Amino acid sequence: MGEWTGKTASKQTNVPTACQAITSTELTKKIINKKSLFILDVRNSNDYSEWKIEGEGIEMINVPYYDMLDGVDSILGELPKDQEIIVVCAKEGSSIVIADMLAQKGVTNLYYLKGGMIAWSEHLEPVKIGDLQNGGEIFQFIRIGKGCLSYYVESAREAVVIDPIRTTKVFEQFAKQRGAKIVATIDTHLHADHISGGRMLAERTGAAYYIPERDASDITFAYHKLEEGHDITIGCSKVETISSPGHTSGSTSLIIDGQFLMTGDSLFIESIGRPDLAGKAEELAGDLRTTLYQRYQQLSGEMIVLPAHFGTISELGKRGEVAKRLEDLFTWNTGLNIQDEQEFQKIVTENLPPQPNHYQEIRLINQGKITPSFDEQIEMEIGPNRCAVAGPENI
Ligand SMILES: [Fe+2]
Repeated sequence: MGEWTGKTASKQTNVPTACQAITSTELTKKIINKKSLFILDVRNSNDYSEWKIEGEGIEMINVPYYDMLDGVDSILGELPKDQEIIVVCAKEGSSIVIADMLAQKGVTNLYYLKGGMIAWSEHLEPVKIGDLQNGGEIFQFIRIGKGCLSYYVESAREAVVIDPIRTTKVFEQFAKQRGAKIVATIDTHLHADHISGGRMLAERTGAAYYIPERDASDITFAYHKLEEGHDITIGCSKVETISSPGHTSGSTSLIIDGQFLMTGDSLFIESIGRPDLAGKAEELAGDLRTTLYQRYQQLSGEMIVLPAHFGTISELGKRGEVAKRLEDLFTWNTGLNIQDEQEFQKIVTENLPPQPNHYQEIRLINQGKITPSFDEQIEMEIGPNRCAVAGPENI
C-alpha cells in the first residue's frame, strides 16, 4: 500500500510533529487493561476490513488517509473530546501526517501508533503463566496483533522455546536477561499461518530444533524428531510429547511437568483446529476427532491448556494470558461438545474461514525451501491468523 512519509516530510521542513507516539507495548497494556480508546485507522478500507486492532474498550473508525488529503474537517465531529485518540496506518507515516493535521485543528490527546500495523503485527508481550513444580517458570509470549502464542519454559537455567515466531531476538534477550541458555526450540507442527522462528533461534543459540517427523517429510534442513514416547528434559523439568494429529498429520502436544498442556493448533480456548491447511481435510478430520474426543479426554482435567493461537481478544484473561483448565474447556468449548460424528466431520471440513494469507508459501519457508527477503516476510505475515475452524458462534 502506498503511503505518505510524514516523518520524512517533517524532518525535511524541520517541523516537529504535534502528536506523540504510542508504542505497541504501551497499546498492548491499555488493551489488556480494557482501557477505553478511540482508534482512527487511516489505511484503505480493504486492509481495514481484513485485519484491525481489537480490544474490548476500543471504539474505531476507518477513514482512508487519501480521503483527508484536502483536510480533516469532515471527521472532526466524529472524534471524542475526552478520550485518547490513536491514529493508525500501515507503517506510521500517514498516521503522523493526519495526526498533525488534527492537532492543528485543536484536537488533543492525540497519538500515532509507532511503526504502524507492521509493528503491531510483530509485537510480542510476555506474560508469566506460572511456576513449575520443580522450580521452573513458564511464560506465554502473546503476539497480540496476529493471535500467535509462543512459550518460554525455563528450569535450572535451561530454556526451551515452543512455537517461536520469526522475530527470535525477543526470546534470545529474554533468556539472556534471566541468565538462562536456550537449549531447545520446538514447533508443535509445521505452521502455515506464520513463519516459524524455531530453526533460526536454534541456529543462533546452538539449541536443538524439534519438529514432528510426520510434518517434516519435506523439510530441507537438519532437525530432531518430536515424537511420542521421547520426552525432552529441560533443567529439572520434563516435556512430555503426545501425538495429537488432526490440524496436521504430525501435530504433537506437549505436557510440561504434568501441569500444562500445550495443544498447538489442535485445541483453542473458544474453538478447535482446522484440518484443511495441509490439503487433507477429509482424512485429518477423523484424526482431529480422535485427538479431541479421546486422547485429550484421557488426560487430567486439571491441566492448564496453552494453545498456539487465540482467535478473538475475548480469549485473553485479566493479565492478558490465554489459558484455561482442560476440564473447563470440555464443559464450554462448543467444538468439544459435538456428539454426532457426521456433524463434526461436516463442521470441520465445510464453510471454513478463508485460508491464511500466503499459507502455501509460508509452509515452504518453514520447510526451508524458499527464503524470501526480510521485507517480503513481513508482508506475507500481515493479517490475522486463521488456524481455528471458526469462532464459537459458527460452530
Ligand atoms: Fe497451525
